[in-house]
Amino acid sequence: MASLTELPDLKRDFDQQLSAAHTEQQVRKVYADFGGANGAIRAKQKELLKTAPNEQKRAIGQATNDILQQVESAFAAALARIANAAAAKDLERTVDVTLPGRVHRLGHLHPITIARREIEEIFAQIGFTVAVGPQVETDFHNFEALAMPKDHPARDMQDTFYVEGSPDVVLRTHTSPVQIRTMLAKKPPVRVIVPGTVYRRDDDATHSPMFNQVEGLCVDVGVTFADLKGVLLHFARRYFGEKIGVRLRPSFFPFTEPSAEIDFTCVFCSGAGCRTCKQTGWIEIGGSGMVDPEVFRQVGYDSEKYTGFAFGWGIDRMAMLKYGIPVITQLFEGDVRFARQFR
Ligand code: PHE
Repeated sequence: MASLTELPDLKRDFDQQLSAAHTEQQVRKVYADFGGANGAIRAKQKELLKTAPNEQKRAIGQATNDILQQVESAFAAALARIANAAAAKDLERTVDVTLPGRVHRLGHLHPITIARREIEEIFAQIGFTVAVGPQVETDFHNFEALAMPKDHPARDMQDTFYVEGSPDVVLRTHTSPVQIRTMLAKKPPVRVIVPGTVYRRDDDATHSPMFNQVEGLCVDVGVTFADLKGVLLHFARRYFGEKIGVRLRPSFFPFTEPSAEIDFTCVFCSGAGCRTCKQTGWIEIGGSGMVDPEVFRQVGYDSEKYTGFAFGWGIDRMAMLKYGIPVITQLFEGDVRFARQFR
């Protein structure tokens, strides 16, 4: 038969388990197991009351309530002990106020983007607007309309990527097809600058199979070769500095007549002669010329009424000259240690 003497045994078990509990969670569990509404002490109380004669019920109630009260205060003390230990540990943690803060790196533009924007801005000052065209281009825009029919030898100069299965679709080899697109879309006067990515089957230290060009086109009544030179001189001075000169050397492009190679004063030696310019004092920049009447015929412009000039060069090469970058592939490798130098 159940007896009151079992209550002190329960209390002893409770004390033992409570002193072994080291976390708040463990303490709460021990309390619930013994002192809680469904705990062992209340279960024992119920059991005793059921079987005890009426005159003992009062004493049983009294005894269990005493024990429950003790359990209650032991529980509260254990919670306080754990809270104090946590607070003490918090105080132990030291903060070293002399440690340097964390540096948050800011993003910045790629040197080619910086160069492209600067070029666009300089030409905007003299009335040029920006035009763009597709990188996957038709044979007509990339070659045919630029006076390079199918068997024209000049096509060999531009090692072309063709789109598989489509002999008339190419990755544009230059930005010149945007000359055609611009003139087909609007009547003169035309003054556009065309930045864009182009593709050729080249791959070495100074040539990448993907690179960026900028094209210029100006068409109006009375545009002359002198205007071409003046515009190029304006650009050279703004971009590289007032001491930079421009030289035009006779050359050939199928879509310009006459055609000229553009040279700028060597930006490394200011024209004195150095290794980069092979002691000539000049650096080759790109191609240019007066728009060939055949091109005007292709786009429906009256070549008796209008004249125009066009030019084109590599933006990547321009950035390499400005920042003294020796190898073009550095521009496309995505090495942050390289890119970080240009912020
Ligand atoms: N499109 C020519 C090239 O990529 C450059 C050029 C542009 C020449 C405009 C003349 C006029 O080689």
